[in-house]
Amino acid sequence: MDDDVAKTWADARNKIDRLRDGALVKIEALGKSDDLEKTRIEFLGKKSYIMGLIKLLGRLSAEERPEAGAKLNAIRTEIEVAIETKKKWLQHVEQDQILQNENFDISLPSRLLGKGHFHPVAEVMDDLIEIFVELGFMVEEGPEVETDEFNFKMLNFPDDHPARDMQDTFYIGNGTRLMRTHTSPVQIHAMKKYQPPMSVIAPGRVYRCDSDVTHSPVFHQLEGFYIDKNVNFGHLKGTLELFVRHLYGDGVEVRFRPSFFPFTEPSAEIDISCVLCHGGGCRVCKETGWLEILGAGMIDPNVLSVMDINPEKWTGFAFGLGIERIAMLKYGIDDIRLLYENNIGFLQQF
Ligand code: PHE
Repeated sequence: MDDDVAKTWADARNKIDRLRDGALVKIEALGKSDDLEKTRIEFLGKKSYIMGLIKLLGRLSAEERPEAGAKLNAIRTEIEVAIETKKKWLQHVEQDQILQNENFDISLPSRLLGKGHFHPVAEVMDDLIEIFVELGFMVEEGPEVETDEFNFKMLNFPDDHPARDMQDTFYIGNGTRLMRTHTSPVQIHAMKKYQPPMSVIAPGRVYRCDSDVTHSPVFHQLEGFYIDKNVNFGHLKGTLELFVRHLYGDGVEVRFRPSFFPFTEPSAEIDISCVLCHGGGCRVCKETGWLEILGAGMIDPNVLSVMDINPEKWTGFAFGLGIERIAMLKYGIDDIRLLYENNIGFLQQF
């Protein structure tokens, strides 16, 4: 072996490529766990050609050494990974054989000793609340049965505005009451109850006449809003970017798109780069690379005025997000209805 190393690196280089190819073919063809260890020793053991070369790296010239070091390490890792993968596969095959030879019914349910846990929607809701409480928001809840006033009128929806149709509303009785279609009416309740400055989140159930794979007649939203002197769109951006990073990590991109809500001006919809395909395009993001997760904007001055808050003095931002959407993305669930069927087999996966 010393002779080989004494030759130039160029010679060794060709040889180890062939050696690597040979090793990978051999590993692929292996059939029993014992052979695997022998093969590992053959290619990566103390006396192997590759380890010999690695030990002798110091003797190479300063120009050759970095390339040789990198290459040898890469090949070593490649072989290690191939062996590990093969090992796992062989263990799997062996276990399979054991199970097949055993004389018991592996489809019988085991004895249940499981502990209960929170529903994925509750889990995500708690996570989100925690993030915003850390940022200094307080939690406020409002009623699920609302009046037209709170759900629409005081939020600046004009009578007969198409936005009212947009939110297919469950009206109750003669139509004076309704199931809230969003958590935004809690903004109004809070403005009645507190003086600004205030920073509030309002988690809770909301209702819409809508049902398909991505819509459920009952779902959950988290509303957030902040009213203070000099609050501007930059604060909204900063808060939501911080929130998205908390939730999905630093790698996620955030984009704001102009939109419309009667109670915010300007309004935006917020997209994040797809957490599943990282922007490359997949089924979940409909090949766009982006996922819409939030509606937001600056609280419309009309809303503040109606609540006797002087819009010359106070400004605010608001946002609303769907909890189920976040949970579905987190757990890769593609049908919202699964979250409501209470199928124990489904729920136990989380
Ligand atoms: N209430 C809006 C909805 O349900 C979301 C929203 C909340 C938008 C707050 C802007 C500000 O779609």
